[in-house]
Amino acid sequence: MTSAGRFLTFEGCEGCGKSTQITSTLAWLRSAKLTVHEVREPGGTPVGEVIRHLLKHDPVGQSMTAETELLLFAASRAELVRQTILPALTRGDWIIADRFHDSTTVFQGNARGLPMEEVSFINRYAIAQREPDLTLVLDLDPAEARSRALRRPRPAGQKDRLEDLDLGFYQKVAEGYRALAQREPKRVKLIDASGSREQTFAMIQKELRHAFSSLPR
Ligand code: TMP
Repeated sequence: MTSAGRFLTFEGCEGCGKSTQITSTLAWLRSAKLTVHEVREPGGTPVGEVIRHLLKHDPVGQSMTAETELLLFAASRAELVRQTILPALTRGDWIIADRFHDSTTVFQGNARGLPMEEVSFINRYAIAQREPDLTLVLDLDPAEARSRALRRPRPAGQKDRLEDLDLGFYQKVAEGYRALAQREPKRVKLIDASGSREQTFAMIQKELRHAFSSLPR
């Protein structure tokens, strides 16, 4: 399917500064008079938000298998793609997604160790073959990312099954993203997120201007 709109995704370890950079990018694109929608994964639709709670916080999901986890992420994404992303792109709007199918490749494939062939097949089905036009991976040393993630404020007593993970997991995630950028260098760009917010945002603007020539200089 060809779509008139533009589809950007942000990826990275927990604690890499994704949310801050998405906020700045949204403001910048909107100031250029573009209609931009922000979505997040898992979630972003009523069904997806229920799945998000099950994946992250609900005690019922605490001991789910990696295979179930994979399919729940895919189900949330299938809903978001068909209910929100494809209709918006067809209208000519822009979408910025906080995580998309590359998170599944990296977290469930590289880090949890599920077979890549199955992960890719399920990803393709969930996204209805609509890959992002550009994916920005905020690349940060895994130890630094983990310590930033652990310092983030959380609602009192709230557990997060997907964030309470050890350094080895973060290392596999970071390596998975770097390997992905090597495999798909046209779509997937690594952004060094070790500097200040402003430095990181300047690199994001540079990539976006390079990919979409109509953006303000
Ligand atoms: P976040 O929205 O706070 O980033 O939390 C999402 C968590 O879910 C994060 O730890 C990454 C993980 N995740 C996966 O493991 N697979 C996926 O496909 C997606 C979208 C997220």
